Amino acid sequence: MIVSILKEQMPETRVAVDPGSIEKLLKMKVESVWVEKNAGEGALFTDKEYIDAGATIQPREEILRKAQIIISILPPSLDELRQLSKDQVVLSQFDPLRNKTLSQQLVEMGRTTFSLDNIPRTTRAQSMDVLSSQASVAGYVASVLCATKLPRFFPLMMTAAGTIKPAKALILGAGVAGLQSIATCKRLGAVVEAFDVRSAAKEEVLSLGAKFVEVEGAKEDKGAGGYAVQQTEEFLKRQKATVQEHAAQSDIIISTAQIPGRKAPLLVTEDTVRNMRPGSVIIDMAAASGGNCALSKEGETVIVDGVQVIGDSFLPRRMPQDASRMLGKNLTNFITLLIDEEGQLQLNFEDDIVVGTCLTHDGNIISERIKKFYQSA
Ligand code: NAI
Repeated sequence: MIVSILKEQMPETRVAVDPGSIEKLLKMKVESVWVEKNAGEGALFTDKEYIDAGATIQPREEILRKAQIIISILPPSLDELRQLSKDQVVLSQFDPLRNKTLSQQLVEMGRTTFSLDNIPRTTRAQSMDVLSSQASVAGYVASVLCATKLPRFFPLMMTAAGTIKPAKALILGAGVAGLQSIATCKRLGAVVEAFDVRSAAKEEVLSLGAKFVEVEGAKEDKGAGGYAVQQTEEFLKRQKATVQEHAAQSDIIISTAQIPGRKAPLLVTEDTVRNMRPGSVIIDMAAASGGNCALSKEGETVIVDGVQVIGDSFLPRRMPQDASRMLGKNLTNFITLLIDEEGQLQLNFEDDIVVGTCLTHDGNIISERIKKFYQSA
């Protein structure tokens, strides 16, 4: 069996599997690993590194014709997906919560697809969880980016030229990305506060040495699989007021608040931005799903009254090499579930991770989570 890795289209800079992960794939006794020419270019991996690791460089058309497992971050084009056969399996981030039309097209085509952004958030699946690994990269990149954009120091500085107060950071949403932002801002010396609507987040925030800002009355749902749920208008109103109060004292805001498949909650109003000190920086990681900040625009920096508002939901693309290494580990761990001891494709739908990640197979949506989401939408 041939396992293959496609080259991504710009603006994606990462590659789904790095050269360092090729050896693990070959150890699974697969016939060969094919990598599209220049697949690692955006992440600064050369074709030679892939070849030295044991892979073969092939043109895209050949891969799409013959490889049994096809891996990419962004899905291949509709035309390419149509040309595949029933025996081929595609592993990509199909973003099914936001892209129902594509899921339906895949069903009609009879494709077998695994959506890597739908890997169950369970302990056993942790090493395969691309959302977590990339959120962690995003949290780090956001903090470092803020540090370079802020016209001030992050840490307290005691110098012969006087003492400089540390910067204050406000982190909205303490999931994987938010916690990494807290940890990185703390390491850089900032004073950090964080918000979340999940009570479980409080302990994690405190354990990182940050202050947890509470707004009473958040709604939680045990059935949401650990994710946040939509809050009432009344709660969001109080939350916005609290954010405004804390934002006025902050030099940076890193916002990461998301609700799977829904518009991101609006937490930072235009008034809040205008109340911040000139020179302050806001990074909105939820910009692509509507934004946590009323002024953010995905892929752009907007400057209002001297405050920079950076909208970027794809921060891992700014650190593609390690982001790709982490993806490579996630992917190779996941693929071990799809391959038997002889190196042949073996789809075991009794396995909760396999069945939970499978988007479409045999003309059906397989993932129960996605099925339920489509029924409720
Ligand atoms: P996410 O990217 O969906 O959302 C980011 C954060 O925003 C979450 O912490 C969420 O509670 C928060 N949020 C949503 N609305 C908000 C609001 N109005 N105000 C403030 N904060 C708000 O979250 P992520 O990072 O994907 O994590 C989701 C859950 O999955 C967490 O409970 C996490 O612990 C869990 N998880 C479990 C894993 C496992 O067991 N393998 C791996 C990774 C995450």
